[in-house]
Amino acid sequence: MPEIHFPAGFIWGAATSAYQIEGAWNADGKGESVWDRFCHSGWRVDGNDHGDVACDHYHRYAEDVALLKNLGVHSYRFSTAWTRVLPEGRGRVNPAGLGFYDRLVDALLEAGIQPNLTLNHWDLPQALQEMGGWNNRECVNWFTDYARVMLDALGDRVRMWSTHNEPWVAAFLGYQSAGMAPGIADSSQAYQAAHHLLLSHGRTVQLFRQGGYPGEIGIVLNVSHSQPASDRPADVAAFQRSYESGLALFAQPLFHGTYPQMLMDWLGAMAPRVEPGDMETIHTPIDFLGLNYYFSTAISYDTHGGLLKARQDHITMPMWGHTEMGWGVYWEGLHQLLLHFKEQYCNPRMFITENGCAALDKPDADGFVQDDERIDYIRHHLKAAHEAIEAGVRLDGYYVWSLLDNFEWWDGYRPRFGIIRVDYDSLRRTPKASYNWYREVIARNGLAW
Ligand code: FCB
Repeated sequence: MPEIHFPAGFIWGAATSAYQIEGAWNADGKGESVWDRFCHSGWRVDGNDHGDVACDHYHRYAEDVALLKNLGVHSYRFSTAWTRVLPEGRGRVNPAGLGFYDRLVDALLEAGIQPNLTLNHWDLPQALQEMGGWNNRECVNWFTDYARVMLDALGDRVRMWSTHNEPWVAAFLGYQSAGMAPGIADSSQAYQAAHHLLLSHGRTVQLFRQGGYPGEIGIVLNVSHSQPASDRPADVAAFQRSYESGLALFAQPLFHGTYPQMLMDWLGAMAPRVEPGDMETIHTPIDFLGLNYYFSTAISYDTHGGLLKARQDHITMPMWGHTEMGWGVYWEGLHQLLLHFKEQYCNPRMFITENGCAALDKPDADGFVQDDERIDYIRHHLKAAHEAIEAGVRLDGYYVWSLLDNFEWWDGYRPRFGIIRVDYDSLRRTPKASYNWYREVIARNGLAW
């Protein structure tokens, strides 16, 4: 069988996030986050699930690091919970919370694994939400202060930093559709929150440079490839609005220092308020861009399509159907996206910081899952990524989502993304077939095709 090989030095990794795996939601002085509040307020999450215990990674991190080591990954992407370190979001530092990340980082380094740390994977301190959260411009300062605490504590050992995970989700699912924490439905707040998230990113990159911290810093965006559903002018215009309010709202200021004009005109009074100097700050050069890719969409004009009058339908490969998330499967979209960033956004150094598949896992009596569908999903996406590299895209690594089955936000524990099964009663971890397969891929730096 022919093999495809990735460039020497390609980074193979696995990803998780704090709220989805840690549990210990109020242990050792941790403060309340917007996700704690959101889940505890009842019936916002499927099955009334919450992250109080999750995978109990807080107490079982040593076992999880051993599983990462056995997998052979070069890097582990995780996030830190702001409220573990600063229970009220600002001011007093909680040494016990910081101590957890200190131990985790040391355990990773001892296992020969590079920590890749994300500062914000959506779990804003509730105390800051009480003051408006990301809609309040002060949040930029609160975040930068938190970033400084983390950089001072771990900057000597962590060499890969990301400011935010998927700021689009934090802003729009958190402040526009109310589907995620903090559960607000107000479009103007959402665009303002997006601006503040970007501004806090830029300030943190500047802080990183001025502080002379070693290593690299970037940001992680959720990206889907999208296309107009037809060549009807109304569909093409709806596609353009949707593209500008999704990918371009973040990529354009980051790489070109401006907001997309057609969208700003459409939004009118709802457009974010921008102060002098903001765009330059956001445009501060980054070392890498992380992309989370799961699906692609076709966009059509729809009078019931919300503020943008746009409707999204998932594209899926023939015979593939949809995953447990209801998401289409379309690896060609990943290839297209990587080329798009090369052509439109200055060919940045990139990592795929998340990619994976929620499947209907059926464990055998020993808890083992033969998850061929997940393997096939990842295989095709890796092939698409490889093709993009051959076309000149600067893609330096791939992180599978996720190391463990975990709390999948509004869907609770139902969809399983892990390459390791977690039994939520016993919290036992059992590597799936995909774990063994991925281990081989890493060892060979490639795969049979
Ligand atoms: C991404 C999130 C991640 C996970 C995956 C499935 O949008 O960053 O936390 O939920 O989707």
